Amino acid sequence: MNPSLGHKDLRQVRIAVQGNTIWRQTERLFQRCAETCERLPRQAINQIDRNRFKTGITRRQQYIPSLFKRLNPVNGLLLAARQRGYRTEVTPFPEGEFSATAPDTRPTARIRLVRDAQVQPDPLFAQVFKRHTHKGVYEARTPDAAALQAVRDSVKGLPVTLGLVTRNEEAAMARHAQIAMDAWRTELVTPRTLLESYHVLRIGPKEIAQHRDGISLNSPMVRALNALGLFDRTQASAPDSSEIKGQLERFNAAIASTPAYFWLSTARNDRITQLETGRAYVRAQLAATAQGLSMHPLSQALQEYPEQAAHYQAVHQLLGAAERGHTVQMWTRLGHGPAIGPAPRRGLEAHVRKA
Ligand SMILES: Cc1cc2nc3c(=O)[nH]c(=O)nc-3n(C[C@H](O)[C@H](O)[C@H](O)COP(=O)(O)O)c2cc1C
Repeated sequence: MNPSLGHKDLRQVRIAVQGNTIWRQTERLFQRCAETCERLPRQAINQIDRNRFKTGITRRQQYIPSLFKRLNPVNGLLLAARQRGYRTEVTPFPEGEFSATAPDTRPTARIRLVRDAQVQPDPLFAQVFKRHTHKGVYEARTPDAAALQAVRDSVKGLPVTLGLVTRNEEAAMARHAQIAMDAWRTELVTPRTLLESYHVLRIGPKEIAQHRDGISLNSPMVRALNALGLFDRTQASAPDSSEIKGQLERFNAAIASTPAYFWLSTARNDRITQLETGRAYVRAQLAATAQGLSMHPLSQALQEYPEQAAHYQAVHQLLGAAERGHTVQMWTRLGHGPAIGPAPRRGLEAHVRKA
């Protein structure tokens, strides 16, 4: 902290996981930063959904690291603060890191915002409201070398190893596609993991608007089945049912159209590294957005439950992580997708608590 700064120039913000809360000790400045965070994607505050932890423990090892990668109110705040001329002093886990198995009520980060004339805006900020996760079919063209370099450059200095592969490497692309499809199939035909997703399905505009979290489904077919009472979300669908077949077909078509894959791995897998990985992912996705590229995470093979073990091992081997003892933290499709709108959000007030 700069001692010459007056009391009003020092802002302190506390972000905590428990109950999706943020304590604020500032008024308008943090409101503006938080609004920015709020409009950030899955990586932002509004996506930290502790209910996900309550849906079951089968994929817990995935969800917990995932939480930290999603915990990017920190990252959103850093960009927003710079935009407003504030330097940020971040203390991750100021009261100690959570254990490897569960988060607790201690704060995830303490962030001081200090007015600083030297601070320059980050050009990635301009992409914040344009960035969306595109999960459908991508165009055939391969991302060009300059675009890929911009994505690489965006994570410089962060403790991650970034990998990219494009259609120029046919055999590797085929392996990526196969593991992604196998892992997705495994998730869908494993009743308890399928049910975890069913418990957070939001079908049609009414449910989506009511919850603004979870997994949104808006296709006419699913809505019609749901309206007719033919889609029972309390029962796992049979592997040969039309729901599962339809989901596999859509996913496999998206994979078949994929012109490139992106991944991040890390040497360590502690909470701070996970937080930094989230920061790297946000930055990489914003840099991709600036290049007109979309990303779509493929988390199934990275999850740590027994049925995924073979796919987990396969993807770690394919990406060179196994031999280096790295953990693959993010694995995504990368390509040119058509323009889409933002995913639902719960709104700022749902996440801010007055201190
Ligand atoms: C760590 C992490 C893993 C994710 N894994 C998946 C995934 O496997 N499949 C998927 O469809 N979305 C996944 N998502 C969610 C999407 O990336 C996206 O954030 C979400 O659908 C909201 O859309 P938006 O990014 O356009 O706001 C993941 C997000 C994060 C941060």
